[in-house]
Amino acid sequence: MKSRNQEHQGGRPKHDEPEIVVGLDIGTTKVTAVVGEVDDGTITILGVGNVPCRGLRKGVVSNIDWTVRSIRDAIEAAQQMAGVEIRTVYAGVAGSHIRCQPSDGVAAVAGGEVQKGDVDRVLEGARAIPVDADRQILHVLPREFIVDNQDGIRDPIGMSGVRLQAKVNLVTAATGCVQNVVRCAERCGLTVADVVLEPLASAEAILSEDEKEIGVVIIDIGGGTTDLLLCVDGGIAHSSVIPAGGNNITSDIAAGLRTPMAEAERLKRNFGCALGRMVSDDDEVEVPGVGGHPPRRVARRVLSDIIEPRVEEIFAVVRKRIEDTGLLEQLSAGAVLTGGAVLMEGMPEFAEEILGMPVRLGYPVGISGITQLVQGPQYATGVGLVKYGAEAIRTARKMKALQAPQPSQRLLRELEEAPKSGSSSSGGAKKPPRPSSNRFWDWLRAAF
Ligand SMILES: Nc1ncnc2c1ncn2[C@@H]1O[C@H](COP(=O)(O)OP(=O)(O)OP(=O)(O)O)[C@@H](O)[C@H]1O
Ligand SMILES: [Mg+2]
Repeated sequence: MKSRNQEHQGGRPKHDEPEIVVGLDIGTTKVTAVVGEVDDGTITILGVGNVPCRGLRKGVVSNIDWTVRSIRDAIEAAQQMAGVEIRTVYAGVAGSHIRCQPSDGVAAVAGGEVQKGDVDRVLEGARAIPVDADRQILHVLPREFIVDNQDGIRDPIGMSGVRLQAKVNLVTAATGCVQNVVRCAERCGLTVADVVLEPLASAEAILSEDEKEIGVVIIDIGGGTTDLLLCVDGGIAHSSVIPAGGNNITSDIAAGLRTPMAEAERLKRNFGCALGRMVSDDDEVEVPGVGGHPPRRVARRVLSDIIEPRVEEIFAVVRKRIEDTGLLEQLSAGAVLTGGAVLMEGMPEFAEEILGMPVRLGYPVGISGITQLVQGPQYATGVGLVKYGAEAIRTARKMKALQAPQPSQRLLRELEEAPKSGSSSSGGAKKPPRPSSNRFWDWLRAAF
């Protein structure tokens, strides 16, 4: 089995060499490991492992052993399919412990032109806020940069000015919850390259740049949680988690129709509809009984009548959260629904009604390979984690290239002016110009 996973971490990076990136989505109902090969910006899905998981409650690990077992099985399956050994993963995290708060930072621009170091310093300043001892900062998400008095800047590097300001959103998480995710992965022999907010990963998989630009909200309705992410002006404006999802609908059906949970889940997936009025009054479904009671036939409309109030409640909370941010009017691209629970008939129509904005379903896009295995909205997070990892690697490579010693124009001129026959074997030829620094010769050796 090949072992190419995350070579950039292992000290053997080769620019532009294909790299294996693995996304590990540890969800309330399933663990999904997605193996992608990243080559020059394109992502080819090589393998997927998808295993049911009972080790989480509402997006948070509640049973380490069960979670570890599911991760191990998912990784094993993904390895088998992809034919690579997985050592490092990008893992997702969610749950109502996640918080998002605005912050800002200011830095003086050294040299009159904004450099990468200035941006690093201003972002470092923005994260210097008091955080509870049991919490940690997960992401510093820039909303905009301000150079002197010019605001609304996305990428300030190269701009002239003396004062750089950053407005960011800080995503914080309960340290214990993050550590449990890392611990579970480590118990499977994995290294966690980064822990990523799940809807942030989903955004990578399903949103277009245009949508991020003109304003959009992602609503990821999974089994245990509904995750929100608002993108405005190309940046992340807000994120929050609602502790309700598809499992609540299943429980409502089990209680309302007095049927086992597994049957309620089957009925929901096969016959469920979020909007009662979309269901014909004549349709019927067979409902198995509990405790030896015989099955009975029930109007499909009854099933919808149980589902509808729960879905309405979820979308009402979503709407309230969006209104509270004050950004409702800025979501011109509307809402993108993702997560397994949105597969139910009537979900987009109901969401449009309650949210009062255009709604579409979000499927992973921008990938090739065995995409049929990650086509559904329930794979948006897993695929998004691969895309997030690919972007992290791309950025790290870019930064490394920027930091690599560059010859000054003067040195390049000296080199061009030097006689071509200036090697030591050419006898009386003039010596090449003396190198001004060892870094220059290091660069020269690497370049030629
Ligand atoms: N066809 C379907 N119709 C209705 N619901 C569905 C369908 N398929 C899956 N679901 C529901 O989607 C939910 C699982 O979605 P998903 O896989 O996105 O969740 P998860 O990632 O495991 O959980 P979370 O993100 O909340 O931690 C379950 O409640 C499941 O019943
Ligand atoms: Mg999920």
